[in-house]
Amino acid sequence: MGQVHSRAWARLPHHYPAAALRPRLVAVAEPDAGRRDEAVSGYGFLAADADWRRVLERDDVDVVSVCGPNFVHREIGTAVAASGRHLWIEKPAGRNLEDTEAIAAAVRAAGVRSAVGFNYRNAPAVEVARELVGAGRLGEVESVEVRMLADYSAHPDGVLSWRFDPALAGTGVLGDLASHGFDLALYVAGGSTGPITELVADQATFVAQRPLAGGAVSHFARGGDGPRGPVGNEDHAAALLRFGSGARGHLVASRVAVGEQCGYGFEVRGTAGALAWDFRRMGELRVCLDQDFQDAAWTTRFIAPGDGELGAFQPGAGVAMGYDDLKVVEAHRLVESIGTGTPVGATIEDAVRTARLVAAMGTSYDERRWVIL
Ligand SMILES: NC(=O)c1ccc[n+]([C@@H]2O[C@H](COP(=O)([O-])OP(=O)(O)OC[C@H]3O[C@@H](n4cnc5c(N)ncnc54)[C@H](O)[C@@H]3O)[C@@H](O)[C@H]2O)c1
Repeated sequence: MGQVHSRAWARLPHHYPAAALRPRLVAVAEPDAGRRDEAVSGYGFLAADADWRRVLERDDVDVVSVCGPNFVHREIGTAVAASGRHLWIEKPAGRNLEDTEAIAAAVRAAGVRSAVGFNYRNAPAVEVARELVGAGRLGEVESVEVRMLADYSAHPDGVLSWRFDPALAGTGVLGDLASHGFDLALYVAGGSTGPITELVADQATFVAQRPLAGGAVSHFARGGDGPRGPVGNEDHAAALLRFGSGARGHLVASRVAVGEQCGYGFEVRGTAGALAWDFRRMGELRVCLDQDFQDAAWTTRFIAPGDGELGAFQPGAGVAMGYDDLKVVEAHRLVESIGTGTPVGATIEDAVRTARLVAAMGTSYDERRWVIL
């Protein structure tokens, strides 16, 4: 994610020439020497250090991207905010609710702006979905169904990186993907459904042991026949949801879903219509609107300039945006927040909201009961 953030900062002026700030990649902190060299030679950082504290000692750093593993989020995130720098931090912003709340408290105390990596809400089709739901085009929302199905850990030889260790990652797929799913559900439908007020959850770990990792490895790396260690957090999680309005929902998240790659998306059904989105077809919103209650047909709306931020990236409908573009949108929203002093886009408060829901799923599973939020 350090690479993705670096590219987003570099590309910001290409897509948003009128942005309030023109970023410069001043300094990078990375303990891995190879990745540090790559940041300088490939991404053009002017300085690099193994220790993040050196970056905060500089007087030419105004904004910091925190893209390390979950176990560094709290220490670095709170220090960034306390030093008066604006903070762009990756989700889930810590290993647990306590970490996320500590980061949020530091941001509030310092009065700095924050952004959190809930990038899927930045897709133009998701913005259109939110507008349609908000305008009542689906009628009363009855259900919100969210799928966050990935295969990044489906291979049984996927290495035992920090992601599988509760001391380093906290939860498994809950913090990694269910957090994105909660943010999507509430971003798209929350204006109509109100908050999630109750849930009941289940979870499972299907790959119990994985090859031990050495050094910094991506979550796509595979190990060999060497020693294995235990997976300490969940591969799969699901929940039934109740919203304040009485709408119902369900969320399923997996990191071992063969055949799904990154099957992230949602369906929202209302009394008069429905809509559906899948990240793998990012520029398409499937809609079922303005028809009779029965035998209604779906159509595909290709996202066009004027829908969300597409116009900053492509000149016409049907020209696809990519994952990295969502991060450019995120960077721009943070810059707008800094320029106006008013939060734009997902902030640390949204991370607290999702961390609370993730924690509730854990409680529900542990205690085998519905949890009231
Ligand atoms: N928003 C998204 O879609 C998305 C996608 C992937 C990952 N993430 C999040 O991004 C974060 C990083 O994930 P990743 O896949 O890039 O992990 P990764 O393991 O590939 O990279 C983490 C990097 O942080 C470095 N690091 C470790 N300790 C550090 C420290 N003290 N100071 C500075 N750097 C340190 C590591 O050496 C490594 O280079 C996680 O919190 C993850 O949840 C978000």
